[in-house]
Amino acid sequence: MISRCCGRSGRRCGTPRSAVLGRPPGTPSNPPSTVWGPSREKNACRVCVVEVEGARTLAPACSRRAEPGVEVRTDTERARHSRKVVLELLASSVDLSTTPRAEEWIKEYGAEPDRFGPDAARVNEEPKVDNDLYVWDYDKCILCYKCVDVCGEQWQNTFAIAVGGRGFDARIAAEHDAALTDSACVYCGNCIEVCPTGALGFKSEFDMRAAGTWDAAGQTGTTAVCAYCGVGCNVTLHVQDNEIVKVTSPHDNPVTHGNLCIKGRFGYQHVQQR
Ligand code: SF4
Ligand code: SF4
Ligand code: FES
Repeated sequence: MISRCCGRSGRRCGTPRSAVLGRPPGTPSNPPSTVWGPSREKNACRVCVVEVEGARTLAPACSRRAEPGVEVRTDTERARHSRKVVLELLASSVDLSTTPRAEEWIKEYGAEPDRFGPDAARVNEEPKVDNDLYVWDYDKCILCYKCVDVCGEQWQNTFAIAVGGRGFDARIAAEHDAALTDSACVYCGNCIEVCPTGALGFKSEFDMRAAGTWDAAGQTGTTAVCAYCGVGCNVTLHVQDNEIVKVTSPHDNPVTHGNLCIKGRFGYQHVQQR
C-alpha cells in the first residue's frame, strides 16, 4: 500500500499526532505496532517499519513524522520481511501472550516464534508482586520505556520508575530497585494504561488469570464519569460476572487522554459492597 501524507500543518494522518502510523495498528493498510497509544511513541521495537521515499533505511511508522507529499510504502517485501524477523526476535525473547494482536501478526507475517530457540529468552523469572494493585511481569517487558515516560515528564511527573541495570540486566524498577510500596509511586496506574504487552498489569487481572477465571470475551466495558472529584475523568469499567475487574480510561478522551489517579483507577470496591 502506498500512501501520501496530506501534511496539513503539524497534523498527523487522521489524528492529532504527526506520525505515519496515524490510525490504530492493524487498520487496513496500516502496519502492526506495539507501542502505538495515547502517550508519545517510543520507536523501540521496529515492528511497524515502512519504506519512505528517499530514505535509505526503513522507518518506524509509529514515530516517523509525516511530511507533505512524501510517498510511504507500507506493504513492500522488504518491510514485511523486516517485520517478520522483528516479530521472531520479540517472540523468542519475551512472552507475548498478553500483547494484543501479537498472535495475529505472527500468523500474518509467517513468523516463527521459536526460531531463535529457548536460550533467547531475555528474562526468566516469576512476576514481581509487591503491592495489592499491580504486578510487574518482566518476562513480558519489551523495554519500550513507555511506562517510564508517562510516570515522568509526559503525564504524571512522579518519576517513580526508571530503567535500572544495563544490557541483559536492564529492567524497569523503582529507585534503588525498592519495592513499589517504598517508592515515590502514587498508584495512578497510568503506567499500566500504556504498557503494550501486559508486563505491567492489574493485580486483579493477574489473580484471575492465575485462577483460570479471566474471561476477556465475556466482559463488558462501560464508560462513565469518575464521581470522586470535579475533574470529570472518563473511566471505563470492565465488568465480568457483575463485578468490576479493572478500570481503564479512554485514550481518545480530549481532556484526560487515558490518565487517571489512584481513586478513579483502583477505588471501585465500594461499588461492589452489596
Ligand atoms: S502507578 Fe503512577 S506513579 Fe506509580 S509507577 Fe506507575 S505511573 Fe508512576
Ligand atoms: S513494563 Fe511495559 S511499558 Fe514499561 S518498558 Fe516494559 S513493556 Fe514497556
Ligand atoms: S511500534 Fe513502532 S517501533 Fe515499535
